[in-house]
Amino acid sequence: MSEIRSRIKELLAPIAGDMEVMNRVLQAQLVDESPAVQDMTSHVGRFSGKQLRAALVLLVAEASGRRSSEHVQVAAIVEMIHLATLVHDDVLDGAEVRRRVACVNERWDNQTAILLGDFLYSRAFGLSTQLKSRLTSQLLAATTSRLCAGEIEQSTQRYDFELTQERYEFICAAKTASLYGAACELGARVSDQDGSGSFAKDDELARSMASFGEELGLAFQIIDDCLDLVGDAEIVGKSVGTDVEDGKVTLPVLHIYASASEQTRTQIRDIYTQDGIQKRAHHLRESIDLAPGLEYARARAEELVDRAMERLDVLPDSPARRTLKSIGDFVLGRNW
Ligand code: IPE
Ligand code: IPE
Ligand code: MG
Ligand code: MG
Repeated sequence: MSEIRSRIKELLAPIAGDMEVMNRVLQAQLVDESPAVQDMTSHVGRFSGKQLRAALVLLVAEASGRRSSEHVQVAAIVEMIHLATLVHDDVLDGAEVRRRVACVNERWDNQTAILLGDFLYSRAFGLSTQLKSRLTSQLLAATTSRLCAGEIEQSTQRYDFELTQERYEFICAAKTASLYGAACELGARVSDQDGSGSFAKDDELARSMASFGEELGLAFQIIDDCLDLVGDAEIVGKSVGTDVEDGKVTLPVLHIYASASEQTRTQIRDIYTQDGIQKRAHHLRESIDLAPGLEYARARAEELVDRAMERLDVLPDSPARRTLKSIGDFVLGRNW
């Protein structure tokens, strides 16, 4: 565990100072006069996660030579929105553990978790209104709608074993890659120099960075879906196996199912749906050879990361750009 933390620390060393300030901004937003709210925000604020999205805002800003006085706030806002989505997502998934501690829905209940998620969203958007330009509010409002639509779409596609890869990726792009894309776009577009406080949407660099984030984010979710199937909960630090439990058919399983015999297909469907099965993901792993599906998903994630890396060609060499490159490998190699 401490090894993983030190790996992240090493990875993000070029922006360590900014990340520290970002965390202070974030922590200040978690303060509330209600003792009940304070108790909950202290719970979610105690363990920080990888903070990759905040780091991407700062790294892209730095690597593109566009670092402004507001990027630290923007990074904190992005990370708070991410936190809010996690609090809500754990309700949707009936998850028990997040960042090595009990989820809000587990420690308190679903009602409380929904309200706390709303509280975090409103604090994030409140902070965004203090920025010079409306860019961050506008882009993150659109991103949050897309993210929620992705989660909604996903829940309507549960138990759909005929889901196409295209549709699966569309959902992953909406629920996960969108915020990665927005983080990178904001890194490149928030500005002190321009009178309007932001670079234009069609700015070529900003477009490349948005695509970089989307591709990296999609790869991130594909790897996450592999970890949910075969990861070790102790190492991943959150509940695993919930995708199978909740009927989410992810890329490794879709791939296996598409080329499986009718008998294997029935077996897979039964493991997902039959009453009384304990630990469905474990059961799936024991009964079906998932290796080809995992390999296929991994190859797709690698392809996306390669494409994302090419987007970085527009940036001059710098420690921040080198860190962005390493994040690609980190995403592919992570088991946390
Ligand atoms: C978890 O994201 C949600 C997904 C999109 C899979 P992270 O794995 O980045 O979560 P933290 O912030 O590090 O806990
Ligand atoms: C959810 O994806 C992505 C979000 C928008 C939070 P997952 O359901 O796979 O995320 P985890 O595995 O619970 O972190
Ligand atoms: Mg989840
Ligand atoms: Mg997951």
